[in-house]
Amino acid sequence: LKKIRKFQESDKATLTALWQAVFPDDPPHNEPSLVIEAKLAVDDLIFIAEEEDGEMIGACMAGYDGHRGWLYAVAVSPDQRRNGTGKALVLFAIKALKNLGCKKVNLQIRPTNTEVANFYKSLGFSTEDRLSMGTFIE
Ligand SMILES: CC(C)(COP(=O)(O)OP(=O)(O)OC[C@H]1O[C@@H](n2cnc3c(N)ncnc32)[C@H](O)[C@@H]1OP(=O)(O)O)[C@@H](O)C(=O)NCCC(=O)NCCS
Repeated sequence: LKKIRKFQESDKATLTALWQAVFPDDPPHNEPSLVIEAKLAVDDLIFIAEEEDGEMIGACMAGYDGHRGWLYAVAVSPDQRRNGTGKALVLFAIKALKNLGCKKVNLQIRPTNTEVANFYKSLGFSTEDRLSMGTFIE
């Protein structure tokens, strides 16, 4: 059995290690310790999945901008997958977004990532035909 809870300051090193292990190819601007710092400066929508003994086995981040909600960096330890942890994390994050008044949740994944697409489809997400655009702010 596992529980999902909010991030706390003492999780920082463990969460950094988890995200580094699960997203080894992320660009430098997504370096986990920087991401955590920046996120906590805005809100605390970081969620942790842990085993009964307290071991961290998953995490994710959510955001709400007053219009849409977003999910980011949903990660489950490789040796703990297909056991419902990812689903529990996403449902917990969605509930937190709903409590803030959010009515629509978006997420981005690479188009080649069909396994993760299947994960989100199993949770009721569907592909929306949009062009995702972005720019770096100097
Ligand atoms: C995606 C991820 C978070 C899923 O976590 P998980 O704990 O294994 O997922 P769950 O056990 O809750 O899976 C729920 C359902 O999603 C679907 N699913 C999950 N992983 C899947 C896979 N690799 N292939 C196909 N379907 C999958 C299944 O329907 C599954 O139900 P089932 O196990 O009863 O068949 C995990 O694989 C992960 O950390 N991947 C790498 C990180 C990543 O790419 N994250 C997304 C970017 S934001």
